Formats: sequence, structure tokens, C-alpha cells
Amino acid sequence: MLCSRCPIHYPLPKAPINKPFIRQRLLPSRPTCQSLGVSGSLRMEAKSNTNTNIKDETSKRLSFDFLTKKPYTPPSWASHLNPIPSHVFSLGHLPTPIHRWNLPNLPSNTEVWLKRDDLSGMQLSGNKVRKLEFLLADAVAQGADCIVTIGGIQSNHCRATAVAAKYLNLDCYLILRTSKVLVDQDPGLTGNLLVERLVGAHIKLISKEEYAQIGSVNLTNILKEKLLSEGRRPYVIPVGGSNSLGTWGYIEAVREIEQQLEFDDIVVACGSGGTVAGLSLGSSLSTLKAKVHAFSVCDDPDYFYDYVQGLLDGLEAGVDSHEIVHIKNAKGLGYAINTSEELNFVKGIAAATGVILDPVYSGKAAYGMMKDMSVNPERWEGRKILFIHTGGLLGLFDKVDQISVGNWHRMDVHESVPRKDGIGKMF
Ligand SMILES: Cc1ncc(COP(=O)(O)O)c(C=O)c1O
Repeated sequence: MLCSRCPIHYPLPKAPINKPFIRQRLLPSRPTCQSLGVSGSLRMEAKSNTNTNIKDETSKRLSFDFLTKKPYTPPSWASHLNPIPSHVFSLGHLPTPIHRWNLPNLPSNTEVWLKRDDLSGMQLSGNKVRKLEFLLADAVAQGADCIVTIGGIQSNHCRATAVAAKYLNLDCYLILRTSKVLVDQDPGLTGNLLVERLVGAHIKLISKEEYAQIGSVNLTNILKEKLLSEGRRPYVIPVGGSNSLGTWGYIEAVREIEQQLEFDDIVVACGSGGTVAGLSLGSSLSTLKAKVHAFSVCDDPDYFYDYVQGLLDGLEAGVDSHEIVHIKNAKGLGYAINTSEELNFVKGIAAATGVILDPVYSGKAAYGMMKDMSVNPERWEGRKILFIHTGGLLGLFDKVDQISVGNWHRMDVHESVPRKDGIGKMF
């Protein structure tokens, strides 16, 4: 199967099902994330202004559980899924906060709230952290000594994987896709690459054309075989961490949201499908029952309905992807390519609300959502929407040549102000 356009997925992989993880139901539950993760004042505002169902804080994640591995028990509403992961690593700073997002020009009585998964960490930030909590627990359980994964040259997933692997003392091999003219050159230190190289990831470059011909699954297998022949024990994570095991990351995120607030709709970017699969399955099974809207930033909606279906089938969920998620195209000019309108939108939202969206994922999803709100306001009027900010700030550094922001001036100090040597010296 060849998808000729999207640089992420061609040739189209089938949704991988990582079967080796083991079902263990009788183990104690991971502490549920009932802490709201919102500031005291916001919590008060949420209570008084919206009269929504904020639950009591009954358990708090202990501050010592970061980077520890624990037995995993799913939410009761997900306990029929199969297989269920046996363990989970605590890698993210969870629960992430939720706060009101005062976007301009909303339809009447529409509320937008923001789930700050961009604040799930610093180098190890964004939505990928939630998937890696399960994937790396499996890697360690299988006795891996290194991780292999693949993505675009500015892949947030690859950066997060490189950091998480190093935390767990695992080597990391990244296959990064770039253009034919750059494939034999040093890829530089911009954005995600700086973090990957600082933490010592082994970077293998591949051209977009080779990626299209060979495919991500074959490429990772080739590297895996090579590492095996050298006596290593590699664990392969697919593009975006989107297999059925990774899907548990956003099933768990629904348990977290369920403890925070109620919503009518959830809006999120879709790049490899795992986030949407977990959110939509979790929302439909839990008490949340929010409608999930995905804005795809590559491929097209039909591809993602099929891919998400594969992930759901891999968990024996018995549901049809078309019934639990609504996927809309927000690809624009192409994956990781922005129009000036999209970049101006990202700039405008930062200036208006202080929230910085990434240009490749959440920027396009929010742009798509706002466009739909202006074309079809009746669909959104009176709704309470949760937009998931999935991170990706480092990707913005790759766009600095296309963005002009702010202004600057030399500070004006009148010449009559006396100059005194030696006061407040810094050098
Ligand atoms: C910052 C960011 N947001 C959203 C996504 C999309 O998530 P998913 O790959 O699970 O569809 C990705 C990765 O593809 C990402 O890096």
C-alpha cells in the first residue's frame, strides 16, 4: 500500500499490535490522577463560574514516583480490553492542568478549555510521554537494552523517546526522514535535534524517497536486525508510538480528564492516530461521553479511520472508529508545511492568550477548529470544548525563518545620566 503524499506514513503501515505485553488484572491500581492539576484560583473559578463537576482530591501522585515502574490496573470501564498492559512507567508530570482558554471570536455561549499536555514535562514533553509510559515499561519488561524508532527530522516523538530512553539507561537509535539534498549532511542542532543529540541518541538519516519506497516498518526492522547481529537487544517503537499498547496512554488520559471536568467535545490534532484512538475509545467507554473531533495534519481522514480501527481491533474493543471519532482534514499545504495564515494564527493566539501552539500539530488543529467555528457556528454554539494541547514547541524553532514577531529598540538613556565605572558590574 502506498500513500503517495504524506511524508509520515507512506507506505501505509498496518496498525501494529504489540501483543507481547501481558494481561495482569489483579495487581493494585496505579494511583489515579484525581488531583486537578489546576491552580487554586482557577479551581475556584471553575467551581463558581461553571458549576461543573470537579471531583474531590482523594489521592495525589507521590512526588517520588517519577521514573518508577508500577503494576498497572486499567479503569473499570476499560477492563474488558485485551491485552491490558502489565506495567507502566511514570514519565510525565501528570495530571496536566486544565484551564479556560479565552480565544477571540467564539460562537455564542461556546466555552473552550485547554488541557495542557504540552506541560507534561520539559525535554520529555507533549502527548508522546503518555504513550511512552506504557511502551517503555514493555521494553524494560522484555529486557531491551536499546530503543529503535522513526519519524520526521523534527519528530517530537523521536525527541521524547530519546530523552525517556536515556532516563532509563537505554540507548536510542532514531531513523529521521529528511530531504534528498540534506540526507548526507550534518542535520544541525535546531529544535528537537538539539535535545536528541545532547542526550546522545544515534541518528540515522534517510531520504523521503527511500522512506516512501521501503516504509517505516521495514526500515526499523533493518536496523533492529543489524543491532541483533551485534548482540544488542533492541525494542522497536513504531511511528508516533501509535500501536495498541501506546493507545493506553490516552485511555489513561481520559481517566484523568474524567476526574477534572465534564465536556461536550474534545478537539485534538491527529498525526499518527494513537492519541485519537485512546481519547475516543476512553471517552466513549467512560462517563465522559464527550464527542471527539480530530484534525488530521497529514494523510486524509479515511486513512486515519482505518488506522484507528486497527488500533481498536488490537485491543478487542469491538467498536467502529466512525462511531466514536469525527476526523477532519487540517493538512493544508502538507505535513509540516505551513501557510502564512497558519503561522499568523499561531502568532495571534500567542499574543492574545499567552499560549504557544506548535505549527505542525496543535497549531493546525486549532486553526481548523476556529475555521469550522466561523463557517458552522451552529455546530459549536453553547458547547463546552476541551482542546488538547499536545506540545511540540521545539518544532517552532524550525520555522523561525518564516516568522517575524515583536519589536525591539535600543534603550534610550539620556547622555546627561552620569556614567560611573564599577557600579553593578557584570563583567
Ligand atoms: C506535538 C504533537 N501533537 C500531536 C501529535 C499527533 O499525535 P498522534 O501521533 O498520536 O496522532 C504529534 C505526533 O504525531 C505531536 O508530535
